[in-house]
Amino acid sequence: MSEIKSVAVVGASGALGPHVLKALLDANFQVTVLTRSKKEGAYDANVKIIEVDFTSVESLTAALKGIDAVVSTVAAQASQVQTVIIDAAIAAGVKRFIPSDPMFKIKQYLQEKADAGQLTWTVLVCGAFLEFLFGGPLLLDFVNHKATLYDEGDNRLSSTSLPNIGKAIAGILKNFEDTKNRIVRTSEVILTQNKLVRIAEGIRPDIKWETTKVQASAVLKEGLGEISAGDFSMPVILKVLAGTALGGDSYGSAYDETDNELLGVKELSEEELKILVAQTLG
Ligand SMILES: NC(=O)c1ccc[n+]([C@@H]2O[C@H](COP(=O)([O-])OP(=O)(O)OC[C@H]3O[C@@H](n4cnc5c(N)ncnc54)[C@H](OP(=O)(O)O)[C@@H]3O)[C@@H](O)[C@H]2O)c1
Repeated sequence: MSEIKSVAVVGASGALGPHVLKALLDANFQVTVLTRSKKEGAYDANVKIIEVDFTSVESLTAALKGIDAVVSTVAAQASQVQTVIIDAAIAAGVKRFIPSDPMFKIKQYLQEKADAGQLTWTVLVCGAFLEFLFGGPLLLDFVNHKATLYDEGDNRLSSTSLPNIGKAIAGILKNFEDTKNRIVRTSEVILTQNKLVRIAEGIRPDIKWETTKVQASAVLKEGLGEISAGDFSMPVILKVLAGTALGGDSYGSAYDETDNELLGVKELSEEELKILVAQTLG
């Protein structure tokens, strides 16, 4: 039996947030959204919306009174506001905090608070968003039938769809004890670029894929060098992302051990993956 009944979501208007919101409502949690500014008609009628000042512990503490758990899906660039939210969560008596934490920086702050017995945390590792991989050219350029293969094209990458990430979050809160103060992992499918090319060729033998090769470590080195020189532009960020995401298992981009069963996440079958590739090919 879950100890969690009421959940506050921060960052609910973004790319991931609406899916988390839906999964929490589907799992019958009472949901409150904390936002910088209300967007009329943007949320389900069952959701309570509170406008907060994310720089004020007082504003956040008042909003979090009576809340059992906080799920944060804030934008990566706003990640640091989470320390203020965590302080407020502790003041309000929140039991569990699930951060937006791609770099595992907030986890350290949460661990200190957990060590002091002030609240518990869970970090969800979910791999790359499946929708981003199939909606953009990182793995394959499905529109122009081109692929830039990283190394030999066999580097593995774990991936989960946005609805299943939402489901995994609800699964964490339904399994309060089993997910306490630890990293949990979900992954719907492990992809490689070559695997996708093979599937695409099987579906559409008429399409000839134009492939080139790059060394993942060289792309990463170049991106990191540009960042050190002060260039934080999107193409540079993408080089670092691609160099690590497609850099092989050494960067933790792919993992075989998951908590899918505990969290209630179903893996994608080969057939379902083929359908997804076919739909993307159009
Ligand atoms: N694994 C992957 O492939 C992948 C891909 C993309 C993102 N991510 C990660 O997933 C998480 C969520 O990403 P996302 O793309 O859904 O985020 P997003 O759409 O960019 O932003 C989410 C929400 O954050 C809130 N926000 C933005 N700036 C804020 C600020 N200064 N203070 C407080 N709140 C602020 C906004 O909500 P309000 O306007 O309602 O306040 C916004 O709708 C991030 O950790 C990101 O790094 C992972």
